[in-house]
Amino acid sequence: MIPPVPSRRPRRLRATPAMRRLVAETRLHPADLVLPLFVREGLSEPQPIASMPGVVQHTLDSLRETAVLAAEAGLGGVMLFGVPQRRDARGSGADDPEGILNLATAAVAAEAGDSLVVQTDLCLDEFTDHGHCGVLDASGAVDNDRTLERYAEMAIAQAEAGSALLGLSGMMDGQVAAVRAALDGAGFSSTAILAYSAKYASAFYGPFREAVDSQLVGDRRSYQQDPANRREGAHEAALDLDEGADIVMVKPAMSYLDVISDVAELSPVPVWAYQVSGEAAMIEAAAANGWIDRRRAIEESVTGIRRAGADAVLSYFALEIAGWIR
Ligand code: PBG
Repeated sequence: MIPPVPSRRPRRLRATPAMRRLVAETRLHPADLVLPLFVREGLSEPQPIASMPGVVQHTLDSLRETAVLAAEAGLGGVMLFGVPQRRDARGSGADDPEGILNLATAAVAAEAGDSLVVQTDLCLDEFTDHGHCGVLDASGAVDNDRTLERYAEMAIAQAEAGSALLGLSGMMDGQVAAVRAALDGAGFSSTAILAYSAKYASAFYGPFREAVDSQLVGDRRSYQQDPANRREGAHEAALDLDEGADIVMVKPAMSYLDVISDVAELSPVPVWAYQVSGEAAMIEAAAANGWIDRRRAIEESVTGIRRAGADAVLSYFALEIAGWIR
């Protein structure tokens, strides 16, 4: 039997590179990419991070140079993480104006702050000697409300240093409202808040822990979300919007595309996603083995995250992708 001739032929729009380009629904653009950067106190040379090929712990100088490269590449911004030399129970280095993250923020803002958005991670885990994202109570549990006081102090220090967008990644209840009130009270009503709204307790943060020399023993499951929960992602985003978040984020990205899609559906403000260290590491490791095409895998992964609903993506590949787009 002769099969019927198809009356619908979607392949027409896939026939040539020019046609495919014309009908593409999602495009990568440097301005929609944010590059995470690590700066370590007391370094004289940039330090490679074994589990993150191509990513380093920066010195203040190399950080500044890289921020300039990011600006020249047209990236939307940089997200700064600090690795201090000394740590204590309350994370004193986090709100010390001479603390590494605040010094680095001031340096980068002075150098590149007009051409990209200088952003800072607002969390205590890099600064505490126990490695948790907050301060602990007598029983050793993370004390939500006392941590909010520390976040408020940290927010003011970061705003003073020149951060334009504070990335609240600690997953404490009420953190957006607490930081907004602190900023407004200190005259920083123009400093914006990026809420890591749906942040899951993920195995994919593994390499990051090496990058920031994490002191954590145990896990973050009492404050970061259970990967089993989809509804909770939308709920957390709604709460953060209610508390005044300017941008909401989902993290990690590739295993949480449903959550990105849900949040994009409900959010009146921009939705971002973070392609985290372990997601990059998986691509790097497979590519190093010759098992996948590295560039195609990177472009496909970030395109997929954008297609799911993320307006912008934090990615360790941001600078490289920008170079490919040009
Ligand atoms: C918390 C923070 C983490 C990451 C970004 N901000 C670590 C964590 O929650 O354990 C992870 C980013 C990555 O894995 O690339 N300061």
